[in-house]
Amino acid sequence: MTYSTLLTQLENGILIITINRPDKLNALNKDVFNDLDTIFNEVYSNNQIQSVIIIGCGNKAFVAGADIGEFGSLSVEEGKKLAKRGQDVFNKIENSPKPVIACVNGFALGGGCELSMACHFRIAAENAKFGQPEVNLGLIPGYGGTQRLAQLIGKGRAIELLITANMIDASTALQFGLVNYVVPSDALLNKAKEILQTVNSKAPLAVAACIKAANAVWKETVNGFDEEIQLFGNCFGTNDMKEGTNAFLEKRKAVFTGN
Ligand code: COA
Repeated sequence: MTYSTLLTQLENGILIITINRPDKLNALNKDVFNDLDTIFNEVYSNNQIQSVIIIGCGNKAFVAGADIGEFGSLSVEEGKKLAKRGQDVFNKIENSPKPVIACVNGFALGGGCELSMACHFRIAAENAKFGQPEVNLGLIPGYGGTQRLAQLIGKGRAIELLITANMIDASTALQFGLVNYVVPSDALLNKAKEILQTVNSKAPLAVAACIKAANAVWKETVNGFDEEIQLFGNCFGTNDMKEGTNAFLEKRKAVFTGN
């Protein structure tokens, strides 16, 4: 499948998605949301895809925000619809049963910071810059940013960033826990691939269950401890759990099939 705003490459089970609007610093317009929605349907259903990397085209920006050009004439109701659409797509990324890493290679502002936060974790290049500059535009984040920023870096730091519109650099993002690693730009993709190669060798259903259980911490309608009990129990019904435990006892490497 081809996408008007995304480049894709499948490499050893890792799908690399590149947001491809470099002349607009990869800003998120309607087409990008449609393409991300469609490609994540594919991520959910295609067994050849084991994990995902999202990166921006070029070396200046991951994503410099929602496309401000689409904001001008929106009504209150249209604004709410836009936020709902953005949140639905980003929730689909967050709830993906396959791990998703954001490789932040430059500006991650507004919707770009929100996109990176919808991924399961983030790796930053040394030139990465994060921020939620919406108050400069008389706006607030609408794609889950107010919630995920507070979840990831704590309420005090989140509110400071939201109301000042200040940007933070990669080393501050590391200190705040917004990113897991900071690496030189030319090492960014390889760092993510190295981690995902490790993850791809694990039992896929157990990996998916870890993501679902960890996501439950922030779902008000779900009790995360109960969710963990269910997901833990379900593992005992999988062939991979039998294979994993037998392989350990037989002192051999497990071969997982995702069943
Ligand atoms: N929406 C639409 N277009 C955007 C954009 C966005 N969020 N961010 C950048 N662009 C466009 C610029 O308009 C410019 O297009 P042009 O060449 O047709 O004029 C192009 O991308 C390059 O950006 P430019 O501003 O010239 O680069 P810069 O290096 O001077 O500044 C930024 C980089 C990221 C600091 C600056 O582009 C910026 O502040 N962007 C908006 C960030 C933002 O407010 N995001 C939240 C949106 S809710």
